[in-house]
Parts: sequence; structure tokens; C-alpha cells
Amino acid sequence: MNLRPFGTTNLQTTPIGLGLAALGRPGYINLGHAQDLEADYDITAMEARTHRVLDAAWAAGIRYFDAARSYGRAEAFLGSWLTARQIPVDQITVGSKWGYTYTADWQIQADAHEIKEHSLPVLERQIQESRALLGDYLDIYQIHSATLDSGVLTNDAVLAKLAQLKQDGLKIGLSLSGSQQGETLKRALDVQTENGALLFDSVQATWNLLEQSAGEALRQAHEAGLGVIVKEALANGRLTPRNTDPQLALLHQLAAEKNTTPDALALAAVLAQPWVDVVLSGAAAVEHLQSNVTAVTINYDEETAVRLQSLRESPDIYWQTRSNLAWN
Ligand SMILES: NC(=O)c1ccc[n+]([C@@H]2O[C@H](COP(=O)([O-])OP(=O)(O)OC[C@H]3O[C@@H](n4cnc5c(N)ncnc54)[C@H](OP(=O)(O)O)[C@@H]3O)[C@@H](O)[C@H]2O)c1
Repeated sequence: MNLRPFGTTNLQTTPIGLGLAALGRPGYINLGHAQDLEADYDITAMEARTHRVLDAAWAAGIRYFDAARSYGRAEAFLGSWLTARQIPVDQITVGSKWGYTYTADWQIQADAHEIKEHSLPVLERQIQESRALLGDYLDIYQIHSATLDSGVLTNDAVLAKLAQLKQDGLKIGLSLSGSQQGETLKRALDVQTENGALLFDSVQATWNLLEQSAGEALRQAHEAGLGVIVKEALANGRLTPRNTDPQLALLHQLAAEKNTTPDALALAAVLAQPWVDVVLSGAAAVEHLQSNVTAVTINYDEETAVRLQSLRESPDIYWQTRSNLAWN
């Protein structure tokens, strides 16, 4: 997979990256998550599983890896893999996130799986935790699911701390969530450091065949030089062979016509966007990762793009459906 510049940063990434949300903890919302983990939640077994998927990602040429403090032991599993494989720091790009604290205590069901707080004490605690686990490998530190409601984009103490971390050499990013991703991103593009530079170097947002409302704002972020990462490109598993919902029959049909898989075609739809730098695979199984990376070989032509437009949902319906997905 070709390395290419990540926005106007000095980082390089590959068109496909690997996200560890489904690998680092027993419970997550993706369809069939429990099945993928084969209901084996022993920490050593889950670390070994993560290392197998990371090895497959590396072998497929993936060079961007995405974690978060709230993904259970994802940073620890990634850190132990980086050390065990002696990956040169300059041959990989690693991003993580702060702002959510993991509270599920290694359980699948919990009253609260994670607690969101975009405050200075949380940032100061979590940057130390992430650095302890990822060391010099950590390149990008992202606000986890920034929203207008969380108030983080007007929290001067937090913004000042992020500007200081940027000065120390970290790239600063934000991830988005919910039906107002576009509005939140446009507000973030107005945030500057004291010397008038944009604070944010990258943005991570949900964009897929069902939810495309952030597209225009992502194009503007790309134009402004930010690195653009797309998450949930498979709508938490809804755009995969696993989902037999008749509403998605067209995706399965077009995938068959192109002699590919629904997940690869859905990922190819994201790769075809001119403003995207990295689309994340959220695979927790080697065979799913290997199916996902075939997306780079697909010719996503205009006719296919037009036909699949019919799958688009309103953001409200999309995020309502997502919020109803069961932790499993
Ligand atoms: N707010 C945020 O910042 C935020 C939120 C969500 C996600 N993210 C990032 O984005 C990454 C990806 O998102 P995501 O994992 O939430 O969702 P996703 O990529 O939309 O969906 C991934 C799911 O699709 C399934 N899948 C993939 N290929 C498949 C195949 N060929 N057959 C059957 N199932 C298949 C995977 O199953 P298996 O598990 O079985 O492989 C996984 O459960 C995360 O890991 C994380 O890094 C960030």
C-alpha cells in the first residue's frame, strides 16, 4: 500500500488504517463482536488476537494505527506489539484519543462502558497514560468525539494545553460523532494557536454509504490542510456480508457484479472521496481485515457511485440506529 502525505503534516500514512476499538475490550457495539472474539476474554488471549490482526495489517502494508484510552487495553496491546516486532518509529504512524475513560471493568455489560469528560485534568492524566504505553510511537493525539455540547472547543485551558503539546511535537486532532459532525468541524477550523496557526492538524469523522452529512465540512478541512481520517466506514458492521437487511440488497448485488465483497465495496466508496487521507478498518478478525484491504484494488466508478447513493439515510436516523446497537 502506498505511503502518502497526511494533510500538510510531516507524517505519512496509507489509504487504509487499522482501528482497535473492537480489539481492546470485551464489549463493543459492532455487529457480531462477541462472535469475533469467540467469547474468549482472557487478557492474554485477547492480546494475542490483537497481535495476529496487527501482524496481518502490517503484512498488508497498513502503516496507520488508531487507538484510544477508552478502548480498554488497546494502547497496551498496540504498545506490546510495537515493542515485540521492533517496528522502527519512523515507519509507522500511530494515533490515540483522550476524553473518554474506560469504566467497563473488562465486562461486556456495564452501567457505563466509558465516561466522557473533555477537561484539563483528564487531558493531563490521559496524555501521561498514553505516553507510558506508546512512548515515541505516539504521533497524533485526538480529542475523542468532540461535540459542540462538550464545550471543549471553547475551553481555553484545554486548548492552551493542546497548543503546548503541539509545540512539543505531537500532532493535534479531533474526532467527531453524532448528527452534527459538520457543524462541530467548521467550529474547530476556527480554533487557532497564539501565533495564528490552526490548532488542529487532523480530523476523524464518520462517513459511509449511509451517513454522508459531514462530507462538505471534511472537504473544507482537507482544503485547510488537515489530515482526514474516516471511521465507521462499515457502519459498525451494517455494510458487511454479516448484515442481510433487505435495504442493503443493492450493495450486495453490486459487490457480486464487481466480483468483490460488500465490505470492500463500501470501503472503496470512502477511498474514492478526494478529501480522504485514511479510511479505518475496524476488523477484529484476520479474514475480515484481509477482505477489507482488497478495497484498494476496486475501481469505484461513477455509475456505481450514483447507484449506491440510494442507500443514504438522514443523519438523525443513522445515529439513532447506531445508538440502538447492543454492546456485545
Ligand atoms: N468517536 C470516535 O472517535 C470513533 C468511533 C468509532 C470508531 N472509531 C475508530 O474507527 C475504527 C473503525 O470503526 P468501527 O470498528 O467502530 O466500525 P466499522 O469499521 O464501521 O465496522 C467494523 C465492523 O465491521 C465488521 N466487518 C468488517 N469486515 C467484515 C467482513 N468482511 N465480514 C463481516 N464483518 C466484517 C467487523 O467485524 P469483525 O470485528 O468481526 O472484524 C467490525 O465489527 C475503530 O476501530 C476506531 O479506531 C472512532
